[in-house]
Amino acid sequence: MFGKALLLSTALLALQADAFWRLPCRQRLVLERIDPIDTPGVVGHHVHTVHGGSAFSRNVTSDDLRASHCTSCEVQEDNSAYWTPNLYHQSESGELTALNQTGGMLVYYLLRGENIQPFPPNLRIIAGDARRRNTTYDLDIERSYWAGLGLSTNQDFLRQRAIGFNCLNYAEPANAALGIHTIPQDRDCPDGLRAEVFFPSCWDGKHDDSFDHRSHMAYPSTMDDGDCPEGYPIRVPSLFFETIWDVHAFAGQGGKFIFSTGDELGYSNHGDFMNGWQQDVLERAINTCTDPSGIVEMCTEFTIRSADEYSQCTIESELNEEVWGPMKKLPGCNLITDSTQYAGIGACDADGNDIGTSHSAVASKTSKVVSAASSYVAGVASHTASAASAVVSDVAAAAQDTVAPDAVDPYLVIVTVTETVTEGVTSTTCTAPAVTSTVESYKVKRHMHNHARRHH
Ligand SMILES: *[C@@H]1O[C@H](CO)[C@@H](O)[C@H](O)[C@H]1NC(C)=O
Ligand SMILES: *[C@@H]1O[C@H](CO)[C@@H](O)[C@H](O)[C@H]1NC(C)=O
Ligand SMILES: *[C@@H]1O[C@H](CO)[C@@H](O)[C@H](O)[C@H]1NC(C)=O
Repeated sequence: MFGKALLLSTALLALQADAFWRLPCRQRLVLERIDPIDTPGVVGHHVHTVHGGSAFSRNVTSDDLRASHCTSCEVQEDNSAYWTPNLYHQSESGELTALNQTGGMLVYYLLRGENIQPFPPNLRIIAGDARRRNTTYDLDIERSYWAGLGLSTNQDFLRQRAIGFNCLNYAEPANAALGIHTIPQDRDCPDGLRAEVFFPSCWDGKHDDSFDHRSHMAYPSTMDDGDCPEGYPIRVPSLFFETIWDVHAFAGQGGKFIFSTGDELGYSNHGDFMNGWQQDVLERAINTCTDPSGIVEMCTEFTIRSADEYSQCTIESELNEEVWGPMKKLPGCNLITDSTQYAGIGACDADGNDIGTSHSAVASKTSKVVSAASSYVAGVASHTASAASAVVSDVAAAAQDTVAPDAVDPYLVIVTVTETVTEGVTSTTCTAPAVTSTVESYKVKRHMHNHARRHH
């Protein structure tokens, strides 16, 4: 294991010769259960720690972000939003507490590949998968074997390989980025546990987003470098998120670390990016910020603000929900489990006023279905409870119309709306939709319960 890690580290070091800049984001903008990419317009499934433009909200768009009055990151011309699941500690008695982030978060902009273009203005990407609980590959296979094993074009492998951790101990030599794949629960990381997410850098040249928020992007052949696959001709900067969690604060206390998704293994680690750059500045930076040091202050295109100043940029949570702890349950009804099965999603609504629409869309290469269904799923978020049933049947119709009977890749669309109105207060109950894996078992689920209790 260590031998392999060392080999990987040599490869990564060699690549550091490429130009890059490292964007510091020292304070959280907000900690809340909101995800404008995965669940636009509604309460999200799990708690995220968010950095970037102050316009962040459940409904935010790239243009809204650009109009932010501040950003919690260092470069003023970048109001992009960057978010990842929060890490919690669960004590032996079961109490959950949000961890601190040491130094907030770092976003690497790595300029790898040829002819790098700025992100399209409205680009949204999710890297990683909140519902994943295992790996289906040997992620430690040396890069030199990837091509021979067909892994360098296997997006499923590359996506899983792009997520990992580093157990930091600055007294020892550094380990390779993405060197371990699970949360080390049984040893201390004196300088923190660094959660790492490498983003895909090949764009299809057409879509700002896609049904699964992934398939408009692809990883190049060595995941963090190499050649783009067919159909993804445009190279954009490679984003790499590093979030250092202060696990050391709990050293010797027992218990375990758990992502806000309910995952104690770590495979659900993921990152979300929504472009909020001033496009012209990003474009010039790609061409001129080529200092190999990565020090963001070296780039003359940027207006740099001091850490004291940009760290003042925080916003109030949209939700009246306990997210810091100590508390007994994870926000959003995310069950804590060490199951390696593909997980359900939390679906509680803490917001009172929200209809609590929960929708889940897992899709793969059946692109006709993907694009047909995506507009519908996006529509769910913006519909009120009374319109939800129409949306659900539309999704079913759209999917049935477009599924090729011989589709190679299975896909899944589950839309669950569980609404309860009790004494005039709207709330939703927890659901954890099952994952179906064959086209035949495709289904759209809908539950709608209206229990309007009368006053006596
Ligand atoms: C987070 O940091 C604050 C300020 O240093 C400290 O009081 C608190 O105990 C820390 N919380 C955890 C969970 O480490
Ligand atoms: C691993 O996860 C995949 C999907 O993410 C699932 O289909 C499979 O059953 C899981 N394997 C185990 C052993 O739990
Ligand atoms: C977000 O969008 C929803 C649905 O379109 C709307 O009902 C809601 O008022 C918006 N919320 C905010 C905070 O803008």
